[in-house]
Amino acid sequence: MTGSGSGVMGSGYGSHSAAQHAGLAAAQGMLDRALRAVPLPAEGRAFRVADLGCAAGTNAMEPMARTVAAVRARRPGMSVQVTHTDIPGNDFGALFATLCGPTSYLGGPGVFGCAQARSFYEPLFPPGELQLAWCSIAVHWLSRLPLPVDGHVYSSRAAGPVREALRRQSAADWTDFLRHRAAELVPGGQLVVVGGAATDDGLSGAEGLFDLALAELQELLRQGELTADQLAAMTVPTWNRTTAEYLDPLRGGPAAQWFRLEEAEFAVLEDPMWSRYGVDGDLDAYAGEVAASFLAAFGPSLFAGPAAVEPRTVRRFGRGLTARVKERPEAGAARWRIELLRATRR
Ligand SMILES: C[S@@+](CC[C@H](N)C(=O)[O-])C[C@H]1O[C@@H](n2cnc3c(N)ncnc32)[C@H](O)[C@@H]1O
Repeated sequence: MTGSGSGVMGSGYGSHSAAQHAGLAAAQGMLDRALRAVPLPAEGRAFRVADLGCAAGTNAMEPMARTVAAVRARRPGMSVQVTHTDIPGNDFGALFATLCGPTSYLGGPGVFGCAQARSFYEPLFPPGELQLAWCSIAVHWLSRLPLPVDGHVYSSRAAGPVREALRRQSAADWTDFLRHRAAELVPGGQLVVVGGAATDDGLSGAEGLFDLALAELQELLRQGELTADQLAAMTVPTWNRTTAEYLDPLRGGPAAQWFRLEEAEFAVLEDPMWSRYGVDGDLDAYAGEVAASFLAAFGPSLFAGPAAVEPRTVRRFGRGLTARVKERPEAGAARWRIELLRATRR
């Protein structure tokens, strides 16, 4: 059975996305260099930015504020227009609340924010429209799930033909993403991507957490809370690419004709929840936060897809995952791997 690949976030994502935020700190330098390199639009025209895969916008406020400040340092008073994009199922109400809230980059004159609901694997803007495309912790979500993962819910645990099908889907999606951004960026326009990544062994750093989640789902199956069909239909539609899978298309594949790869960096993030637990020793708070973050990022794709389950079951899963993290705190810590890259539209 194939799936839609919906990577929509849960309603708690805005307040449970500290791990994703840690990835962005690493990208600040790349964003700053992009903002120095990018050609400014003609006098009187707005600087156009896309924030691709925005979720609730929580983690976009800082980089967008940085963007406004940097381009205005180069040309005081220049208008800036940011378009936040995500798939139609995203909670755009939460995005607009963030845009109207105290952390927003909006507020001063000449800075505009708007939204578009469409996959970034499709065209999003007219040709040559953008100066900057920014995408953080989103391109590892696939456009579709070619096959469910046998015996697990996480793609990095896939083997054999299923693993190959996921890898092929990921390669096709990444090429589509780059092709559309190439069409939308002006010559010299900058693409900055922070993507969920894997080491060459295919591991993303969150396998321990997903194994705990699977054990809890299997327990719910044993208790008759889930059916075997529901569990079999559950797969998170992501593929964390290796460095080669991210960079080879930009080094020698078709995308090398569209973009010049300027810099790339592979990083392993500390888990901020684990670090906090190391300081305060509050196991209840740690386990509760790990389970809430897991549900915020992956709950909708596990529980609202083809396997649609009762809210009561989702709550039981949350309690069970919390208990498992309390039993094995280190297994619940995710050291996410990320690939950061900056490329210039030729
Ligand atoms: C982990 S969140 C990251 C959100 C935010 N950029 C951040 O840094 O915190 C991933 C986001 O990517 C979005 N996403 C997944 N697949 C997408 C697609 N094909 N097109 C656009 N957005 C997508 C999800 O809906 C979700 O909002």
